[in-house]
Amino acid sequence: MAIAAEKLQQLVSLDRGEIDRSIFSDSEIFEQEITSIFGRSWLFLCHESQIAKAGDFFEAPMGRDNVLVVRQKDGGIKGLLNTCAHRGNAVCRAEEGNVKNFMCTYHGWTYDLAGKLIGVPGLQELYHNELDLAAHGLREVAQLDTYRGFVFATADRDAPPLAEFLGRTGRAGLEMIAGQGEMEVVPGIQKFVIPCNWKFAVDNLFDWYHPQITHLSALQAGLVPAPTDPRGRQMSATGVAGPDGAELELMGGVANEDTPDQIVFLDVFGHALAGPTVETMGNLDGAVDHSWRDTPRAREALGPMARRAVGHTNIFPTLWIAPEIRQVSLRVPRGPELTEIWWFTFVPREAGPQERAMTIQAAIHVFGPAGALEQEDGENWTQSTIQTRGTASRMIPQALKMNLGRGKIVDDDGQDPPYIECGINEHGQLWTFASWMAWLSGCGWDELRNRTTPPDVI
Ligand code: FES
Ligand SMILES: [Fe+2]
Repeated sequence: MAIAAEKLQQLVSLDRGEIDRSIFSDSEIFEQEITSIFGRSWLFLCHESQIAKAGDFFEAPMGRDNVLVVRQKDGGIKGLLNTCAHRGNAVCRAEEGNVKNFMCTYHGWTYDLAGKLIGVPGLQELYHNELDLAAHGLREVAQLDTYRGFVFATADRDAPPLAEFLGRTGRAGLEMIAGQGEMEVVPGIQKFVIPCNWKFAVDNLFDWYHPQITHLSALQAGLVPAPTDPRGRQMSATGVAGPDGAELELMGGVANEDTPDQIVFLDVFGHALAGPTVETMGNLDGAVDHSWRDTPRAREALGPMARRAVGHTNIFPTLWIAPEIRQVSLRVPRGPELTEIWWFTFVPREAGPQERAMTIQAAIHVFGPAGALEQEDGENWTQSTIQTRGTASRMIPQALKMNLGRGKIVDDDGQDPPYIECGINEHGQLWTFASWMAWLSGCGWDELRNRTTPPDVI
């Protein structure tokens, strides 16, 4: 049974910048997320380069459903539920590959690339030729579409078209990878689990407040270069006074409206981007190449603010785009306190062996199961999740109060998504949780669009 609207309203307060901790471990809420969010939203499945030839397939999660994304003989793409129409067994046990057809390992029902049932052992002798083959194919997702090579699907026939769902923020985020060249995914998706709620992993992708503390060891070891500000400011040593007069040091910009160092995009359906500008981030000692931002394609596809934005996009609910390291990550919910992390790594098709090797090296050591940053992050997310269960601890609200009420949103109706210029902030997170509440209410698409249209100030 759905959670009552009055209870939902109490879970997230945009005005106070507070969130009820129960949303990170409550199993009833998790079940409602699976149906109201993952059962309706457009979800990223894979990149077209992963399924280039007829018969190529890749298995991707859609909530608790597993979907085979299959390149067809005519060049099209289908999303087929990986469950046999006979007794439900998975018809494919591999995560990716190339096939001529899918044969179920239980009783041998066999489906072609389009999901049509083409073989049934004993069709004549046992079924007396009375089985309706056409009615027992693999079921297709409700809608499947691509944007700049990224394949998405939704289980909701009423969902708006993909490009509309993505909004200006989602489209800009994808462009920030696609615009860097003719991109392809490096073979091998990194997958691992972290015992945490998926929303902690999403919250963190906008979080430019934590690196200097959480990732101190990685910074000190030189695994991640500290940003250098070409304007001469010390980006890794922005002084912020603590309440006892002690000075904390933060990375990524000052929380001061007069000197905006960050751009935040907030968009319909809960998409957001938050992070530094090209000017403040610099090129990380040459590790990040921003030259693609001045190409004709980038000028056509991105507005002036998006061409300055270096931050991370979240395409609601769970697709993290990290353009500066050419990776995207899915935060796959497996349970209220269990999240599977998937990392896709991109390289330009024309990249030479050295560039490929360096890309893979970075992909292994920064994020992923052997990535220093994600192991440091994961510890915090696990502990934060555990503390939402305590009888007393769970009564304490989460605080997202940074720059609260000071984020003035500019929407000039141009190419750029609605944006805020400010210092380090928590607007991306707060917007994600406010939108999450609207999604969880199960309201129709028009109401959802209205409720997730950014306000004037956040
Ligand atoms: S469950 Fe697939 S053939 Fe029986
Ligand atoms: Fe981190």
